[in-house]
Amino acid sequence: MKEKISRLQFLDRSAKLMMAGMLAPFITNGAELFQTRKVKIGLIGCGSVSGMYLPHLSKSPYVELVSVCDIIPERAKAAAAQYKVPNYYVHIDQQLAGAPFDLLVNLTDMQEHGRLNKLALLKKRHVWSEKPMANTYAEGKALLDLSKQQGVRIWGAPAVVNSPQFAHMSRMIQQGKIGKVSAAHAHYGHLGPTWSAFFYEQGGGSLPDLGVYNIATLTGLLGPAKSVMGMTSIVTPERTVDNKGKIKVVAEDNAMVLMDHGNGILSHVQCGFNYFDPYGHEGSGQDKPTISIWGTHGNLQLIGYDWAPFGVDVATHDHENTRREATDTGSYVWQEGASVISQSLATGNEPLIAAEHALHVLEVMEATRASQQTGKRIALKSTFRYPVV
Ligand SMILES: NC(=O)c1ccc[n+]([C@@H]2O[C@H](COP(=O)([O-])OP(=O)(O)OC[C@H]3O[C@@H](n4cnc5c(N)ncnc54)[C@H](O)[C@@H]3O)[C@@H](O)[C@H]2O)c1
Repeated sequence: MKEKISRLQFLDRSAKLMMAGMLAPFITNGAELFQTRKVKIGLIGCGSVSGMYLPHLSKSPYVELVSVCDIIPERAKAAAAQYKVPNYYVHIDQQLAGAPFDLLVNLTDMQEHGRLNKLALLKKRHVWSEKPMANTYAEGKALLDLSKQQGVRIWGAPAVVNSPQFAHMSRMIQQGKIGKVSAAHAHYGHLGPTWSAFFYEQGGGSLPDLGVYNIATLTGLLGPAKSVMGMTSIVTPERTVDNKGKIKVVAEDNAMVLMDHGNGILSHVQCGFNYFDPYGHEGSGQDKPTISIWGTHGNLQLIGYDWAPFGVDVATHDHENTRREATDTGSYVWQEGASVISQSLATGNEPLIAAEHALHVLEVMEATRASQQTGKRIALKSTFRYPVV
């Protein structure tokens, strides 16, 4: 006979089991029992990206949307009405004290992530955070430690490691199909968001908004970086944005990151808010390579942005003509992070996305800025489970 447990006991137990590395027996014995469980979500930040998250979450069989919250009351009210969410709040304290939920989905300004994530963890809520997970590596590490003390979990965007194209490239690298990997390049840029000032203020920048995807992809494919050198600059010192009018740009809007992954592997990321890009912020129609990996027996090019890829161009020693592989995008979409985490909490199945990876990416971004300030190569201490796939 199957053991009957309450939903809260189940979520608590799944978090503890996952932390204790006891997943395999849990999945095998429990998958059937847990499949119909729904994770109760409280979503905070009803701005631009919530317009992608909410429709996606409302279709997930593992999700029950319990509340939305925004400091701009009409946004919270409108989101609740549009997506039939029963509760809305204008302050996180009200949300945490209000209708019970299991997972906070944090879609607020980047500068608010660390503070709000901590409040949720202190109330024993799991957290899915948009990037970055925190403002500094030290703050992010403290959040991860706190989550363990509290018996809950925290995860951070992006979800790039979930795409079938990432998996294809990773397997080819791990199976030695492109020989010894030596170098890689990634780029992502557009002319910058126009709606909110936080992207350009202290704690914002093109690194945590754009470079974060490429750094997650390259470290995910090539392994944790051992050290970083970087240069950053501000190309456009003043901008006009919808919520604050004319503002001074404080955070870098142009960045170059060099990573040493060990074993001789070097990679490069460039990102910025000053790239003319005919595909715009949505990236529709972008069909060019954005990630290139070179090995002694073959080269791989990821087609489309790494957050929305749709193929991998492959040329190898024994098949020199480039061919396109992994053209099936499956169910992957970039805004799936919180629904994948809900599925994971509901089934006990450990996701590919890992807090340690998000933290490592945060350390790389911080090291890039430290390198710009000091002119030095910066050694990193963080690492994560590798290979991811
Ligand atoms: N817009 C996108 O396409 C996109 C894509 C991927 C990731 N992101 C990430 O999503 C996050 C949000 O970006 P956005 O573009 O939606 O910004 P946004 O400015 O459109 O929305 C942020 C919302 O958070 C609210 N907010 C801020 N502080 C709050 C607080 N303390 N409590 C409650 N609500 C608060 C704001 O009022 C605003 O409505 C950022 O981390 C961004 O990097 C955005």
